[in-house]
Amino acid sequence: MSPADLDGRRVLVTGGSGFIGRHVVARMAAAGAVVRVVDLQPHPDPSVDIVIGDIAQPEVLDRAFEGGFDSVVHLAAVTSVLRSLEHPELTFRTNVVGTNAVLAAARAAGATSLAFASTNAVTGPMTAPRISEAAVLRPLTPYGSTKAAGEMLMSAYTASYGLRCACVRLTNVYGPGMQAKDSIIARLMRAIRLGTTFEIYGDGNQVRDYVHVEDVVEAFRLGLVSEQWSGPTVIGSGSSLSVHEVVDAVRRVSGAQLPVRHGPAKPGEMPAVIVDPSRALASGWRPRYPSLDEGLIGVWEEWREADVTASPAPGTAAR
Ligand SMILES: NC(=O)c1ccc[n+]([C@@H]2O[C@H](COP(=O)([O-])OP(=O)(O)OC[C@H]3O[C@@H](n4cnc5c(N)ncnc54)[C@H](O)[C@@H]3O)[C@@H](O)[C@H]2O)c1
Repeated sequence: MSPADLDGRRVLVTGGSGFIGRHVVARMAAAGAVVRVVDLQPHPDPSVDIVIGDIAQPEVLDRAFEGGFDSVVHLAAVTSVLRSLEHPELTFRTNVVGTNAVLAAARAAGATSLAFASTNAVTGPMTAPRISEAAVLRPLTPYGSTKAAGEMLMSAYTASYGLRCACVRLTNVYGPGMQAKDSIIARLMRAIRLGTTFEIYGDGNQVRDYVHVEDVVEAFRLGLVSEQWSGPTVIGSGSSLSVHEVVDAVRRVSGAQLPVRHGPAKPGEMPAVIVDPSRALASGWRPRYPSLDEGLIGVWEEWREADVTASPAPGTAAR
């Protein structure tokens, strides 16, 4: 195995049955990696090697890391801000205790690189025109604070034990395979298919950055193979859109009228997320989908054909 490629690399993907995880597993396996998943949920592809269980339980990680691993993509988490507000202890247990256990097990298994799904929500309200890696950590929610704590643990493992950790700070991720989500793109697609009115939380002027899942997977790949990727790296398209602009983009791509109404704002929402992905770009990251319209085409093609009957449980929107 060359340090710069995935062929023959043994990669453990925590949370590999989730939205982003399924894309990571497919991409790593296609590149020749030997992939295993650890997740609470089964993987939809029965040929995937999986250990089912909770990353916060030592015996689960013993089984997951059996045989040794070169690299880890750490995605398993309580991923929803709203759920983290309702269940702060569970969020701490999974996102901090679980992350610490994954790091210890990765070190013991001989891993040399780990890519961690962090979030720009570690930084809290914007105090500069754009969020960069230099922003002070001031998380507003249990979700943001536990991801920040995860980054601190990663920093220590990188410095103390030579396990290079790339903390990939994601914006709003969208792409194919979001049927179980209730994040904005999935809610918009569902509203079109069910013929319902889309509810805008608050005034709709809040701006967010949307990044395609394939571009996120590429960042994780670089995090595993490139020595430049260590510590936090902001990943996002670099241009932010209001909710109204996202609704218009979905209308353009789908051709649907998509009626909207306004509802109350959600707690813990950052008023604006505008990011500066310069560091990622300087470290070799090249997004394939710089504009939301381009990325939405494949998403709409999938939803147009999908069997959409019910809404998922609220609180499945990761940030
Ligand atoms: N989707 C986004 O917009 C976004 C944005 C920022 C950060 N992230 C982060 O990216 C990662 C993946 O997000 P996603 O959108 O694929 O979420 P997801 O909820 O679809 O997937 C998470 C997976 O982790 C598993 N999991 C949860 N707790 C676990 C535990 N204790 N033990 C083992 N497995 C467990 C779940 O079963 C699920 O399959 C998360 O860490 C999330 O916080 C996502």
